[in-house]
Amino acid sequence: MKYSKIKELLNSDKAGFDVVTRGWVRTFRNKQFLALNDGSTIHNIQCVIDFENTPEEQLKRITTSAAIQVEGTLVESQGSGQKFEIQVKKFEILGDSDAEKYPIQLRNRPSLEFLRENAHLRVRTNTFSAVMRVRSILAYAVHKYFNEKGFFYFNAPIITGSDAEGAGEMFRVTALPFDNTPRTEEGAVNYREDFFGRETNLTVSGQLEAETYAMALGQVYTFGPTFRAENSNTSRHLAEFWMIEPEVAFNDLNDNMDLAEDFIRYVVKYATEHCADDLKFLEQRLLDEEKNKPQAERSEMALLEKLNFVLENNFKRVSYTEAIDILRNCKPNKNKKFQYSIDEWGADLQSEHERYLVEKHFKCPVILFDYPAKIKAFYMRLNEDGKTVRAMDILFPGIGEIVGGSQREERYDVLVQKMKELNIPEEDLWWYLDTRKFGTAIHSGFGLGFERLVLFVTGMTNIRDVIPFPRTPQSAEF
Ligand code: 4AD
Ligand code: MG
Repeated sequence: MKYSKIKELLNSDKAGFDVVTRGWVRTFRNKQFLALNDGSTIHNIQCVIDFENTPEEQLKRITTSAAIQVEGTLVESQGSGQKFEIQVKKFEILGDSDAEKYPIQLRNRPSLEFLRENAHLRVRTNTFSAVMRVRSILAYAVHKYFNEKGFFYFNAPIITGSDAEGAGEMFRVTALPFDNTPRTEEGAVNYREDFFGRETNLTVSGQLEAETYAMALGQVYTFGPTFRAENSNTSRHLAEFWMIEPEVAFNDLNDNMDLAEDFIRYVVKYATEHCADDLKFLEQRLLDEEKNKPQAERSEMALLEKLNFVLENNFKRVSYTEAIDILRNCKPNKNKKFQYSIDEWGADLQSEHERYLVEKHFKCPVILFDYPAKIKAFYMRLNEDGKTVRAMDILFPGIGEIVGGSQREERYDVLVQKMKELNIPEEDLWWYLDTRKFGTAIHSGFGLGFERLVLFVTGMTNIRDVIPFPRTPQSAEF
């Protein structure tokens, strides 16, 4: 027996033949109209049940989320909003779902907060299934882009001894205290030496390791989970998130910006072309939501228009120093002030400043570059002015920072000096310094937070809603 996916059936170019399909019940109306979904598409297929010839007992078992197999004829639909429906000849309940106990009652429009507590079931809703399909297609587009450009996929280690960002926001890797675990004299587990006698962490970024590979394979990219132990409860931060980090030998900062822009455009375009139905659904969801908001809070562009805007317009490239001038002289709101003042050159930008630049001033994605050395990581290339580094952040409307990257410091002496200033022990990074000793060359790369990209493309507003099982300070239950 050939089982068909619902997407295939709805896209069929003809009707009038027998089909078998399986899925989960979304709704069941008037003992007759069953909306079935199998995850292959946002659309349900309507299955029309011959209820007069079906025992009541069987009809009662067609409840929300029950798994069911349907056999019948694919026919042109009269009124279900779809081209085709199934005239059911036979159906079989594969798995019952107790309607009294099933937590997600679709009719009551469950909130995103409620659904977050049911992360294992929320993907059965239209919103989450659409988001997760888009996420999957975007991940594919990432690999496709880099492969087409001749990059090699590099798997950075998850367990590592280095703190790439030097921010000290790492999760320590500790083994359970088996008998042979190193112990202090008092008998306590010696966590400092817990990874077979070494101190190790979950990676915050695969960059440093990727640099060593770029210096041999030329152009590489990572795409894997990264971990940050920062205790931030925002709608933009996760403790476990996926990062894409290309690293390219012989690229300078301008090449790096070109690559980032081209890459983002490519994956966004790929999503608009391959997730049209899901994006249309997500756009409508946002429009419905906005109806309840006051006019001033509604967004100026609908989702697809916003995505097309990014595809059609260059990102604005602005130096940190120019940005500070703009921020000093602007009137961000009625109070004419930011919550955090930005009077001093050298201060880090807060998200209100980034949002002002992107959403109010330039009204397009912005690449900020040449940041003060003091607020950036040790590995960034020092500019001739001695006080700025070749760093770049890409800021997106509604998201803030989506990319952080830089040209790397390729000069051995300058790098060692910088590490001394920051108390980073040379013996911890001897292998990293080797790349500067043996055939060093300019090189650049960046990191793009995958979930922030998914947020942008789907129009969702909380990062917890674009990753299957979010890890945040409050939630790691699943
Ligand atoms: O700016 P970040 O910290 O840069 C790096 O880690 C560099 N080593 C990347 C590189 O040059 N190869 O992080 C890069 C991006 C951010 O711009 C943001 O999109 C995302 O990673 N990001 C997070 N996403 C979700 N939750 C968090 N806690 C994140 N922290 C960073
Ligand atoms: Mg950053």
